[in-house]
Amino acid sequence: MKNIALLLTSFCFIASLNFNSAIAAPSKSVKKTAEQTTSSTALTKQRKNDLLHLVKQDCGSCHGMTLKGGLGPALLPADLVNKPEYFLTITILEGRPGTAMPPWKDILSEQEAQWIAAQLLQGLDNEQD
Ligand code: HEC
Repeated sequence: MKNIALLLTSFCFIASLNFNSAIAAPSKSVKKTAEQTTSSTALTKQRKNDLLHLVKQDCGSCHGMTLKGGLGPALLPADLVNKPEYFLTITILEGRPGTAMPPWKDILSEQEAQWIAAQLLQGLDNEQD
C-alpha cells in the first residue's frame, strides 16, 4: 500500500513539474536527475549526503548552520514537536508564500523533501533511513 501511495504521489509530483518551470529556484547546487524524480526506490547514501549538505548550507543560510534559527525559525526537533512530517514536507516543497521561505520543489523530489522533514524531526545527528 505504501508503495502505491508513493508511486501516486511521485506521479502527481512529476505531472505538476511542467507547471513549475517558471519558478526560479534559489539554488541549483543540488540538482535532481531523471532517475531521482521518476523512481520511488530508496534514496542512495550519496544522495542523502548531498541532501544533508544542502540542509546545512542552503537551509542553514536562513535557519542557521546548526538550525537554531536566524532569518527563519529554528528547525531542531524540540521546535518541531507537534508538527506533522507531511506539513513540514509541504512547507519545504511549496515554501511559505508571503514569507522568506522559498519553494524547493524544483530541486527536491517529494520523497527527498519528506526525507529531510523526517531528519529535521529526529535531529540531523540521528540520521536514519
Ligand atoms: C531565504 C530564507 C530561507 C531559506 C533559504 C530556507 N528557509 Fe525555511 N523558512 C524561512 C522562513 C522565514 C520560515 C518561516 C515562514 C513563516 O513565517 O511561516 C521558514 C519556515 C520553514 C519551515 C517550517 C517551520 C515551522 O516551524 O513550521 C520548515 C520545515 C523549513 N522552513 C525548512 C526549510 C528547509 C528544509 C530549507 C532548505 C531546503 C529551508 N527551509 C530554506 C526561510 C528560509
